[in-house]
Amino acid sequence: MRLAFLGDVHANLEALNAVLEDIGKKGVDEIFCLGDLVGYGPDPENVVQEIKKKNIKTIMGNYDDAVGYSKQSCGCSYSPGRETEVGDVSLNWTIEHTSQETKDFLKKLPRRLSFEVENVKFLLVHGSPLDELLEYVTPQIDPDRLQKIAQSTSEDIIVNGHTHIPMVKWVFGKLVLNPGSVGRPKDADPRASYMIVEVKKGTVQAQIVRVPYDVKRTIEKIAKNNLPMELATVLALGQTFDMGPGKVNFFL
Ligand SMILES: [Fe+2]
Repeated sequence: MRLAFLGDVHANLEALNAVLEDIGKKGVDEIFCLGDLVGYGPDPENVVQEIKKKNIKTIMGNYDDAVGYSKQSCGCSYSPGRETEVGDVSLNWTIEHTSQETKDFLKKLPRRLSFEVENVKFLLVHGSPLDELLEYVTPQIDPDRLQKIAQSTSEDIIVNGHTHIPMVKWVFGKLVLNPGSVGRPKDADPRASYMIVEVKKGTVQAQIVRVPYDVKRTIEKIAKNNLPMELATVLALGQTFDMGPGKVNFFL
């Protein structure tokens, strides 16, 4: 059984289409999405339509929650200053450019999803099982916290998103996976990221896949919609940075 996991599409239609095409060529039994369909990118409505059309099982990300309920904040840990401004512009623009039908779809997304494949139990959450929408399970997470997260669930494999950084980690007999981000990677590789997991006779194999896409086209749409150009820079470089006055500190 081959499963594809993708997440953090962030309204980037070109990246989503490139990933779906690649998945189509490789052949999988089922596709799952870890949430954050919208936000930052210029195509929130079309991305949601595509996910619905393809019947991709999707859980809720913090951005889906914020846009679905027209909230004032996505709950992201922005640094004060320009990063917060860009986040606010992006969230407001996305709320204005999504239909009520799309908002209703985003509101109905489940916060977690459990299923079993050949006796291997999976749990899907956008953040972590202890804070489904907002906790960042990064590769640098405190080991005690990671142990707590792993031991808080009965499933064998936890798949999460939210950090935009791919991860494969064994923790106390459990596997913690993150497919990275389709539409806004932050690990200094601008190519779209997703993951294929193969379950065969009780063994599990996880492979991170990177797919180039037409980032120029996405950036043109960001410009045409008068969205902040910092959103385009992140896509071109594949990483975010602190945009405070007098400093450009790249975050990985
Ligand atoms: Fe995200």
